Amino acid sequence: MNPIYSGKVRDIYDISDGRLVIVTTDRISAFDVVLPEKIPGKGIALNKIADFWFGRTRGIVKNHLISTDTRDMPEFFRKEEFRDRAALVRKLDILPFEFIARGYIFGSMWRAYEEVRPFCGTKITGEYELAQKLDAPIVTPSTKTDTGHDEYIPISDVRNRIGAELTDKITDISMRLYAECGEYALSRGIIIADAKFEFGLDKNGELVLADEIFTPDSARFWRADEYRTGVSPASYDKQVLRDWLQDNKKDGEYQFGNVPGEVLEKTGRIYGECLRRITGA
Ligand SMILES: Nc1ncnc2c1ncn2[C@@H]1O[C@H](COP(=O)(O)OP(=O)(O)O)[C@@H](O)[C@H]1O
Ligand SMILES: [Mg+2]
Repeated sequence: MNPIYSGKVRDIYDISDGRLVIVTTDRISAFDVVLPEKIPGKGIALNKIADFWFGRTRGIVKNHLISTDTRDMPEFFRKEEFRDRAALVRKLDILPFEFIARGYIFGSMWRAYEEVRPFCGTKITGEYELAQKLDAPIVTPSTKTDTGHDEYIPISDVRNRIGAELTDKITDISMRLYAECGEYALSRGIIIADAKFEFGLDKNGELVLADEIFTPDSARFWRADEYRTGVSPASYDKQVLRDWLQDNKKDGEYQFGNVPGEVLEKTGRIYGECLRRITGA
């Protein structure tokens, strides 16, 4: 069986009965490049983290996850290589937007603030330092593009496309997910600065939460004990790798493909730590 799609990190298999198997690999991207190197245990950690949150948030919104047990999947997936890294999900019509819940000012929102530009069509009020907690969390949409460079858009664009009712419902759900899971993560020593959600519609037109949620690949995690404003917080998961790449450029080029094993292993251990912190497992 071949994947119908290979993303930066995940391989998607269509098992042709309205269901997909999403396999989270050990691939990693840094500085917008997928490295040839693999991070041992990363895919398993991400799959288990998303599984944990899908279980916890069922009361807020229906989600696409059916099972992460390969015994529930076609024979092809009952191999060691897929164990703990595959998710059987309902295939949905994914809405062409990503919804990002933000509790802290960082990334593109910070750049807009610094340049005194509106962000997603809204003026940023208040005074902030880099990485400061927002007075109140917000949800901002972006388009899902194939190029990987998503575009931040006003929520009114989403309303025009999918209607006010669905847009408001998604915004409300995103806020609740972020509030509840952000609070939980904080109690485990992790600040979730922002988190990306994808939603889809099922056969009956019902709204369903899809993709992965509150993983270090889809959300921005910071260590709560190191957090302070005014400086760029270290990335919880990728900092060791990024630092190595930054410190070992040759002729101004990142040395993708030459990352030492110990850097890969250390990064793998950080994903493991993330999993343990969140799930206790
Ligand atoms: N339940 C679902 N039904 C259909 N497509 C889905 C579902 N859940 C996730 N997807 C899609 O699967 C892909 C996940 O692969 P990923 O490796 O994360 O790709 P990318 O590099 O594009 O982020 C995304 O395009 C996402 O929209
Ligand atoms: Mg993705």
